[in-house]
Amino acid sequence: MSKKLWGGRFSGNTHPEVELFTASIHVDKILAADDILGSMAHAAMLGKCDILSQEEAQLLQKGLLSIAQKISTDEVEFRIEDEDIHMNIERLLKEEIGDVAGKLHTARSRNDQVALDLHLYLRRQTVDIIALLLTMQETLLQLAAAHRDVMLPGYTHLQRAQPVSLAQYWLTYSAMLQRDISRLKDSWVRVNQSPLGAGALNGSSFAIDKQYVASLLKFDGIYASSMDAVSDRDFVIEFLAAASLIMMHLSRLSEELILWSSQEFNFITMGDAFCTGSSMMPQKKNPDVAELTRGKTGRVYGSLTNLLTLMKGLALTYHRDLQEDKEPLFDTVKTLRAVLSVYNPLLGSLKINASSMQRATEKGFLNATALAEHLVKKGIAFRIAHEIVGNMVAHCVAKDCTLESLTLAEMQQFCETLDDSVYGALQLEKIVTGHDAYAHNSLSGIEDQIVLYQKNMLETQTWVNEKNHLLEEVLTSFSL
Ligand code: ARG
Repeated sequence: MSKKLWGGRFSGNTHPEVELFTASIHVDKILAADDILGSMAHAAMLGKCDILSQEEAQLLQKGLLSIAQKISTDEVEFRIEDEDIHMNIERLLKEEIGDVAGKLHTARSRNDQVALDLHLYLRRQTVDIIALLLTMQETLLQLAAAHRDVMLPGYTHLQRAQPVSLAQYWLTYSAMLQRDISRLKDSWVRVNQSPLGAGALNGSSFAIDKQYVASLLKFDGIYASSMDAVSDRDFVIEFLAAASLIMMHLSRLSEELILWSSQEFNFITMGDAFCTGSSMMPQKKNPDVAELTRGKTGRVYGSLTNLLTLMKGLALTYHRDLQEDKEPLFDTVKTLRAVLSVYNPLLGSLKINASSMQRATEKGFLNATALAEHLVKKGIAFRIAHEIVGNMVAHCVAKDCTLESLTLAEMQQFCETLDDSVYGALQLEKIVTGHDAYAHNSLSGIEDQIVLYQKNMLETQTWVNEKNHLLEEVLTSFSL
């Protein structure tokens, strides 16, 4: 049994079951790079503030650098007895540079250290996930541009409602992703705050420079309250909430694609590379990527609920409960990365069965609203027009025919003001592409949306480049 870093006031060893129960190294080793970066900045600050000598600060940084290299080449062994990533790295540092390693933790607690690691981890993941969302948005926009002229039914209640352009479907999902991106971008101001210097809960008696360490790590600011810095995880919850909304959107898209690729709809065919077969039924081709995306949405929602529940009963300040914040966060990041990475090429693999889509618009009276509006333009009150067209639809249902197949004489039995111009008003293509410049489906409406998202995407790309540059600069400033 090894001696604990905190072992001074204890006699005897920790029970092995307790060691297993309390250890988090199997989970928080993901934070190794962030922990080392944070420690290097802390050591630099201790040197700058003359709390440690320059030589000591440099030795600590050199040691940490060499541990970072060894971790990257898998040369180190993390131990359960050392509990978590923070104490494992401190033990490794002692093996590397000897007793001076014991000075690194001056004016610091694992409470502000772990909070710092989480901020460092989450800010870089936020940038990566925005970049993945952006790639997917690009693909959606390409699809929209390619499918302007493909017509299909738009649905409400999953009942055929009005004809729309397929571009409008892709643009709708692009709009959702745009809000997801902007939510994550907004969260940056809160995630990019430094909690370091908060100590266990109330700082320390050393004249440390919290601003300096925050500027080395290129944070936008520092926590004003040390008790807040060590005890809140609202920035993690905010990310999980944003992640839940992303998954909700992707899950709806998945449901759409699953329905569309069914033989009942037959609107799309997914690439073979993105489907799997059945072990028993030789004919099957299943849309598993979309199904798993829909399924994984549950685990992301679960993580959000997990952390909200974890936090709700915690009096100030740090409690060990907070160690349980990591699995839901890491799992969510892993899930989002996996889903977004596979979804984008899946979208690229879709074959559009335009003729099936077109056929689906021919039944279901998708032009009924247009007909009612045509009557209104001839001076009939909308409510009356609605009633007239409702009667005409009932007539067609009984005859098993379409509105446009009625003769003018038949139509005039329902409304004598109707003339030949009604046939133009009933044309589906006109309804979709140009019947009304204000309609979202009109060609100009689609064009406007494409231009808007292209502008948004350019802004996002600049944002991602800026943040990546900033994160890169921090690493190179510590030779990492
Ligand atoms: N592994 C701990 C966590 O993740 C680090 C902080 C531990 N602090 C403490 N006082 N036990 O929260």
